[in-house]
Amino acid sequence: MQFTAKVTDISKQRTACAILAVDAKNKLTDSGNAIDKASNGALSKLLKRGDLGSATASTLLIPMLEGSVERVLLVRASKNSVNQAEFRKLASASAKAVTGFKEATSYLTELSVIEADTDWQAQQLTLNAGLASYKFTRCLSDAKPNPLEKFTVHVADKKLLNTAQKGVELGNAQALGSNIARELGNLPGNICTPSYLASEAKALAKKHAKLTTTVLDNKKMESMGMGAFMSVAKGSDEPAALIAMNYKGGKTGDKPIVLVGKGITFDTGGISLKPGMAMDEMKFDMCGAASVFGVMHALVEMQAPVNVVCIVAAAENMPSGRASKPGDIVTSMAGKTIEILNTDAEGRLVLCDALTYAGKFKPSVVIDVATLTGACVIALGNHATGLYANQDKLAQDLLAAGETTGDRAWQMPLWDEYHTALKSNFADLQNIGGREAGSVTAACFLSQFATEYNWAHLDIAGSAWNSGAAKGATGRPVPLLLQYILNKK
Ligand code: BES
Ligand code: MN
Ligand code: ZN
Repeated sequence: MQFTAKVTDISKQRTACAILAVDAKNKLTDSGNAIDKASNGALSKLLKRGDLGSATASTLLIPMLEGSVERVLLVRASKNSVNQAEFRKLASASAKAVTGFKEATSYLTELSVIEADTDWQAQQLTLNAGLASYKFTRCLSDAKPNPLEKFTVHVADKKLLNTAQKGVELGNAQALGSNIARELGNLPGNICTPSYLASEAKALAKKHAKLTTTVLDNKKMESMGMGAFMSVAKGSDEPAALIAMNYKGGKTGDKPIVLVGKGITFDTGGISLKPGMAMDEMKFDMCGAASVFGVMHALVEMQAPVNVVCIVAAAENMPSGRASKPGDIVTSMAGKTIEILNTDAEGRLVLCDALTYAGKFKPSVVIDVATLTGACVIALGNHATGLYANQDKLAQDLLAAGETTGDRAWQMPLWDEYHTALKSNFADLQNIGGREAGSVTAACFLSQFATEYNWAHLDIAGSAWNSGAAKGATGRPVPLLLQYILNKK
C-alpha cells in the first residue's frame, strides 16, 4: 500500500473517496464546506435529514455525481477539537469504511487534536488505514484481497508537510510490521512451524545487506546447555529453532536493542494437556515471535539507523513418549535447575534460555514479547499488554510509546514477595507459582534470567489476537515497539 501526505485542494483532488469529519452540531470542516457548496448544499441537506448517526465515529457514504471527488465519507466527531482516543476511533472507523475502494483521501487532519500535532495525526491515519486494509487470504481457494492501494493524508498547510510526511512514514512502518505479524500469527500450526519461521528469517536476510540471520538447531542448543528450551522441544517431531536476526543499521559499536519473541508454533500444553475448547487458538502462541519479525521487517524496509537483534525461540509444545513430564528437572543455560511442575508453562522455559543467549549480543536493553499467561488475560483483558521491567526508565519509555500509538501497555509489579511462589523443594526454582498472580509469577521467573541487562517483558496473551467472530491476530505490540525504537534515535 502506498501512503502520501499532500497539500490538496478538494475542489481539484481526484479521489475515489474523501473522508470528512462532521461535529455533533452537523458542522463540517473547511473541505467539507467546500464540497457542500459545490454540490448545492447536498451534504448539509443529508445531515439535516439525520442520515448520519449521532454516535461518535458513525459513518455515511455519499456518492457524488459531479466534481473530482467520486464519493464522500462523512464521519461523526463530537467537536472540531477532539481528544486522541476519539481521533483514533474516527481514523479506524473511516479506514474500515473505505477498504472497498482502490484509493482514498482523508481530511480528518482538519480536526484539531488535543495535545497532538500533525505528525501524530498523519501517523494515526496511516496506521489505521494500513491495518484496515489487511485481510488473511492465504489459505482461501478464491483469494480476493482488499482493493485499497493508495491512501492520501490531506495537509492543510504547506509548512506542515514535512512533519506530516514523518508521521506517514512511521505509521506506514507500524502498519507494515503489524500486518506481517498478523499474517504469521494467523497461519495455522501445520504451515507455520519452527522451520518455517527459520526459513522466513533467512529469506529476509537474503534481501537485505545489513541483516544477517543465524539459526541454532536442536543439536546446537543441546550442546550449548539449553536444557530448559530443549525440554519443550523434545516432545515434538518438529525440530525447534533458536533464530537470531541481527540488523546493523546504526553506528558500529552502538549496543543493540534485543527483542526476544516467544515462538511456540502450537501449544497443546504437552503432557499437562490443555482442554479441547478453543485449543485452535494456541496457533497464536507464536505471536510474540511474529511481532519481532514484524518489527524487523519494518526496520529493514525503512532502513532505520538503529542496531536491533531479534531472537525467536521457536518450538512446538506436544505430548509424546519423549515429552517432559511434571516433576522433571532440567538445567538451563544459565546453570539454574528448574523443576517442571506443569509442562503447559512452556513459554518461560524456552524464553529463559533465549534470554541467556540474548546477553551474548551485549544489549543496551532486552525486551521479550510473549503470549505467556492466561492469567494476564484475566488481569487486563485484551485492551492492555502486561508490562514488567527491571529498570524504571525503560518501563516509562515503553508505556509512553504505547500511549502515543494507542497500542497500550500497563505496568505490573516484580516485587520480591512474588518470587517466593517459585521456590522448589527439589531444584533452584519451579516453573509455576500458585493460582494467584499468574502473570506476575511468570514474569518473576523470567526476571531471574535477565539480571545482566536492562530488561522488559511484554505479556501479550490478551492483546495479540481477537477471539470470536473477529478471530485473528492483531499485530500488537508492533506499533508500540517501533514507536519505542524509532523514538530513541
Ligand atoms: N500460551 C499459554 C498462555 C495463554 C493461554 C495465552 C490462553 C493466551 C490464552 C501458556 O503457555 C500457558 O499455557 N500458560 C499457562 C501457565 C500455567 C500452567 C501456570 C496458563 O496460563 O494457563
Ligand atoms: Mn502453555
Ligand atoms: Zn504457551
